[in-house]
Order: sequence, then C-alpha cells, then structure tokens
Amino acid sequence: MSNRTYLTTPIYYASGEPHLGHAYTTILADAFARFARQAGDRVLFLTGTDEHGQKIQEEANRRGVEPIELCDEMAERFRDAWDLLDIGYDRFIRTTEAEHIAIVQSFVQRLYDRGYVYAGEYSGWYSVSQERYFTEKEIGPDRVDPIAGKPVEWVEEENWFFRMSAFQEALIAHIEANPDWIRPEVRKNEILGFLQQPLGDLSISRPKRRLRWGVELPFAPEHVAYVWVDALINYVTASGAIPAGTRPDDPAWDDVADSWWPADMHLIGKDILTTHAVYWPTLLMGAGLPLPRCILAHGWWVVGDTKMSKSLGNVVDPLQLRETFGGDAVRWYLLREMPTGSDASYTPERFLVRYDELANVFGNLAQRSISMIGKYRDGVVPDGPADGLDAAIDSTLSSVAASLSSYRLHEALATAMDLARTANGYVEEREPWAQAKDAARASDLDETLATLARVLGVLAALFHPVCPERAEELARRLGLDGVPTLDGARNDEPGGRTVHPGEPLFPRVQL
Ligand code: MSP
Repeated sequence: MSNRTYLTTPIYYASGEPHLGHAYTTILADAFARFARQAGDRVLFLTGTDEHGQKIQEEANRRGVEPIELCDEMAERFRDAWDLLDIGYDRFIRTTEAEHIAIVQSFVQRLYDRGYVYAGEYSGWYSVSQERYFTEKEIGPDRVDPIAGKPVEWVEEENWFFRMSAFQEALIAHIEANPDWIRPEVRKNEILGFLQQPLGDLSISRPKRRLRWGVELPFAPEHVAYVWVDALINYVTASGAIPAGTRPDDPAWDDVADSWWPADMHLIGKDILTTHAVYWPTLLMGAGLPLPRCILAHGWWVVGDTKMSKSLGNVVDPLQLRETFGGDAVRWYLLREMPTGSDASYTPERFLVRYDELANVFGNLAQRSISMIGKYRDGVVPDGPADGLDAAIDSTLSSVAASLSSYRLHEALATAMDLARTANGYVEEREPWAQAKDAARASDLDETLATLARVLGVLAALFHPVCPERAEELARRLGLDGVPTLDGARNDEPGGRTVHPGEPLFPRVQL
C-alpha cells in the first residue's frame, strides 16, 4: 500500500433514507480506510450525498417541499446513520455546496474550451430512478430500466454533448494495460464487452425548462449539468486538486501532484459500473486529469431471493439491526457475509449465524481468557513466555495481508476469526483449569495466560477495522492504552499488565 490513500464511496441520492445497501458500501470503505490507517497511511475517506437532478426534484415535489429542504434533511439522515455505524469518514460532500458547483462549472467549461462539447438533439428512453438513458435492447419489450425495474420515459430535447466517443480507444487501451484497474475481473470483462460496441457521445445537459434543480452550464445558461456529470466530479472537488475559483485554463489542472487526486479506489456497487468505468474516465481524459487508480465494484444485497425495494416493503434498516445487536455486529455481518465483489442474500437466520460466531468464538475467547487471568493471577498478566501461538499469529497476519492486497475483505475476516478459533483450541489443549490445580505447573499456566493476552491484543488489532467499538473495549480490558498496531500486538510483552473483566463483548440477544 502507498502511504497515502484516497478512498471514496458513491455519493447517495438525497431522495431516500440510507438502507442496508448504502451501509454496506460505506462500511466496506470504512474498513479499508481503517486498515490503511493502521498500516500507517495518510487517508482521505470521502462520502456524501448526490443532491441535484430529476429524481430529487420529483421527490421534493411529491413531499411538497423545496429540493434543498429535502437535501438538508437527507444529508443529516445519512450523517447520523454513519455516526451510529461508526463510519470514520474524513469528508462528507454535498453536491449543493458552493465549492463543488464552482468546480463543476470550471470542469465542464474546460471540456468545452478543449473542443469536446457540442450542441445536438437527443431522444431516448430515460430512467429517472437511475438518472440515465437506456437503449431499446436494455429496456426490453416492457420498457423498464434493467436495474430498478421501473418504467422509463421517452425524452426528446436539445442537449449539449460530450464527445465521449473520442476516448473509446484510449479507454480500452487503459483497461488492457492495467488489468487490475476494474475489480473484480468479471466487472472488467463486462466493461470491455460493452466497449466492443461503438461508444456514443454523452448528453451532459438538461434544459432548465424541464429541470431546474442542477448546476448551470457556464457556456449555456439555459441548461443545467446532467446529474451524473455533476456527481462524478465530487471526487475531484473533495481531493482539493482544483480549488474553487480555478479558471478552466489555469495551469493547476496540469499539476495535481500536491492534492489527493487521483483517488486510489472508487468503491461502488455493480449497478453504477458504467458511469464510473466509462463516463468518468473519459470525462477525466477530456479534462486532462489523471484517472483513478482502481474501481472496485461490489455485488448486490438481496433479501431472501428478492430485490430490496421500497415498493416491496422489504428494505432492511441497518439502524434497526444495530439497536438489537450493536453497530459492530452489523458491520461484521455485512463484511463477513458478502464475498467482496459477489452478491449476497440478507436473511435473519444468516445474521444470527454470524452474530453467534462473534459471540461464541471471538467473544468467548476474550471472556474466558480475561476471567482466568482474573481468577488465577489476581488480574495481572503473568510474566511467562507469550509465544505459544506465534506461529498461528504469523501465518494469520501474512494471509490477512494477502487477502487485503487483493481486496478480499471477507476472506481476511474469516482468517482473523480462525485465529480466535485456534486460540480457543489452545485453551482446550492446555487446560489452564488443570494447570491451576497443580503448583508444579505454575510456569505452564503463566505461559498459557501470557500467550492468550498476546493473541487477544493481535485480535483487537485485527478486528478493529471491522468492529472498532468492541476492539477498543477489548484493548481496554487487556489493560492496553488503545488498540495496538498489528506489529505492536504481535511483539507485545503483556506480562505485568492489569486486566479488567467485564460483561461478554457480544452478549446473548433476546429476540
Ligand atoms: N447517486 C448515485 C451515485 C453517484 S456517485 C458519483 C447513486 N446513488 S444511490 O443512492 O442509488 O446509491 C447507489 C449505491 O448504493 C450503489 O452503488 C451501492 O454502492 C449501494 N447500494 C444500494 N443498494 C444496494 C444493494 N441492494 N446492495 C448493495 N449495495 C447497494 O447511485
């Protein structure tokens, strides 16, 4: 990993409340951000809300409020949800911020000045739900958008176009030269497949008479920017590469080295792959800015075997789960259950299976170890050798590092949990309760307890990015001054430290 990591989530539409899907992406990004900080990186972790466009305008009309009122309320909802779920973002961007609006205007003006924008007529099938056009083939005979399954509308209007087609070859070359640029592999192939057809140009404006709620185009004040163009630019705004007020021909555009741009990773769901892997890189090429280093598209959460949707009334509320099980359990479930990149199905049964794993393996190890240190050594970790599990710790750390470098987070977590399992096996094998009965085996017992204290420190560090709250509590109970780094925990000499027993880390839940 580099020593500077800029990670982004999609910015969520301010037309609805945060649900399990939004929470997943954001928690995934948060865990990556925390792993990166743990490795010593400087991190910029960006999230926010997407506040312009037809979808927002229509929802505001439906509620009888001004669009900005709706956005203010929803931005707050998202922030509150992220606080409750312990998301440590560094910047929350709103596309209605003056700074962002100025940068969008400068960006599109620059595309215009560089000769990549022209006026034309557009007609096609538009999905308000996805805020994009779909082809006849994509919408099928029922004329519904293929992602949300909602009806599309026929739109004919004069638009400004971005010459996206001019960058088709360059984009294909970039993908081929950088095989890890779009992850996972299936998503890369999906985009390469898409690029086998001639790439059309992109309509980047909407006439104000149809849509007022957007960023005015400086070269065509009767139009606002297409919401996806506005939204994607948020990643540049937040990077600080182009300060607000920078003119479209300013040399700042050619030298972004002192900023966070380019992003190291755009985390997205597979539903918005085309906008991120085709529209966005070509827009950046048009503006002459470097491309993000990686796009990681994850899969889709379904409920049982049905799509999660408001109209079906099966939307899972992560905050309600948190009320019952705690935020760390929600985070664990989402990240452990979904193979990073694939789809997964939410069921209450699977949630309980994952919760039990936290409680019975990790929680139980912590509980029994700390209570034995209390009972047999008056709450002070003995000075014996603490290396009884070092081989297991070392192989865990190297396999976690390998999983993380290929962004297989669920696998890293499974490995961490296996270390707790191994440590429980070590307890069974060493039988500290028997060692405690035999004065001649006092030094064996010292070794057992010191080894457990060391491995718990390592587990606190490993679980910290996913279960920050409980990991901090575990560190406190171990008498540590905060959660250690992985290296610190691996080489820790816990002897002499006073532990603080408490209630189980993951208590039994009454349903
Ligand atoms: N506003 C656009 C993104 C603009 S980014 C420049 C948008 N917003 S959204 O509110 O619809 O959020 C979409 C994202 O939420 C998906 O890409 C995904 O990350 C997450 N999810 C929403 N529903 C989901 C599931 N059911 N399952 C997994 N993640 C999903 O698109």
